[in-house]
Amino acid sequence: MKNSPIKKCLFPAAGYGTRFLPTTKSMPKEMLPVVNKPLIQYGVEEALEAGISGMAVVTGRGKRAIEDHFDVNYELEHQIAGSDKEIYLSEIRLLMQRAVFSYTRQIEMKGLGHAILTGETLIGDEPFAVVLADDLCYHPDAGVLSQMVELYDYYRCSIVAVEEVPRNETHKYGVIAGDEIAPGIIRVNNMVEKPKPEEAPSNLAIIGRYILTPDIFNILRTTPAGRGGELQITDALLTQALQGRVLAYKFKGRRFDCGSVPGFMEAAEFFFKNVYKE
Ligand code: G1P
Repeated sequence: MKNSPIKKCLFPAAGYGTRFLPTTKSMPKEMLPVVNKPLIQYGVEEALEAGISGMAVVTGRGKRAIEDHFDVNYELEHQIAGSDKEIYLSEIRLLMQRAVFSYTRQIEMKGLGHAILTGETLIGDEPFAVVLADDLCYHPDAGVLSQMVELYDYYRCSIVAVEEVPRNETHKYGVIAGDEIAPGIIRVNNMVEKPKPEEAPSNLAIIGRYILTPDIFNILRTTPAGRGGELQITDALLTQALQGRVLAYKFKGRRFDCGSVPGFMEAAEFFFKNVYKE
């Protein structure tokens, strides 16, 4: 993993977070705290742990708090310098030393595929990871992205993380089908964005972790609008799968859907009990 070609992680973060209104009226959903840290910081930490230091964030209107979070707050630094409160900043200070952030703005919300294409300017012509920060993942020793980077180093193709979901929830996810080529690794031959249970090719749902090869950008440019009239990464990935190879990976660990209130509350309780250190 040390010399992995995956150097950058894209964070699509322009979405509105309507399920958390009114909180998200003036605050980015990516800044919602799970215990004492905002969701996006968990994502950045997962990327760092996977050996990725370039954080490419696709933002939108009303998202300035994200940039400020990963910047120095001089007034605060000055206030607490030399006091016993400094310790509360040590973790984020370390993170800021290790990560390099770049930002671009998505002007119109035209789907996840469009957000990823907007990020091309920050990524360039190299394979990259994608983290959807509202899917919060946990594994005690090897984060989901580091599991996927390791897999990429071997297979060298796009990879999506998947997990089994109840049949009546397929309409919330991109759903894949394919052939299992090794334990937990599926070569994808079908992919449908948010299918009804009776139309779903399986119950294996894509969660918000991807490794993408850069040819995905050209595919996205010629992919027509899909579900909801939006440009879907799922549709572009199906093209890539049929032209070449895309893998789905049954990741190890837990994932919390922090884009929904019940998932968010579950994550808060889990992280407070199992991860948070006072
Ligand atoms: C997006 C993708 C979907 C994927 C999901 C994972 O949907 O379009 O394929 O399963 O993320 O969280 P969204 O949740 O943004 O509607």
